[in-house]
Amino acid sequence: MTTSTSFTALQVMQDAPVIPVIVLNDVAHAVPMARALVAGGIRMLEVTLRTPQALACIEAIARDVPEAVVGAGTVRSKADAQAAARAGARFAVSPGYTSAVGQACRDAGLALLPGVATGSEIMMAQEDGFTELKFFPAMQAGGPAMLKAWSGPFFDVKFCPTGGVTLRNAPEFLALPNVVCVGGSWLVPAAAIAQGDWASVTQLARDTQALRKR
Ligand code: 3PG
Repeated sequence: MTTSTSFTALQVMQDAPVIPVIVLNDVAHAVPMARALVAGGIRMLEVTLRTPQALACIEAIARDVPEAVVGAGTVRSKADAQAAARAGARFAVSPGYTSAVGQACRDAGLALLPGVATGSEIMMAQEDGFTELKFFPAMQAGGPAMLKAWSGPFFDVKFCPTGGVTLRNAPEFLALPNVVCVGGSWLVPAAAIAQGDWASVTQLARDTQALRKR
């Protein structure tokens, strides 16, 4: 585990137009994949806790790729938050929100982007002090129209829509004032990872720079 500057959720969101949602099945892929994304200008990396190797991958990136800021995705429990922090994660992303996860991330020193899909979930997260949220699953739960509707009552909340977001539809999300960045898995295709095609990953990361908010 590395010692680290701590980041706020807003800083995590503002670093690049896209937070890559990463699924890794092999620890050997973690470091070259992280370096490929960093080479393309993306350094906030969400490694999802969806595979048995995820924590070891986070550990490897935290240790060997100091230019990257590795976070844990799919954080669903206090135990997940604690394990992610122990592995060296510096932020967390959750697919939904519970106060237990919110508190565990605070206790572990992890900035958290809590996942929300309804007004009630936004209110629960806000009650616990979270105002930068992941809108998940963004396309399935209403897309840009939902974010426009939320901008009235939830004028003080910023979102990272994730789920069904692509290079093609990202501009529509990023044009909204309450969207800071988007999340997506398209930067790290399973086939590219399996083949060790890191040049493609770097190119996909570079392509997202054109999405920068002005
Ligand atoms: C996820 O948690 O799986 C993310 O939302 C990624 O969704 P995507 O594969 O549609 O980008």
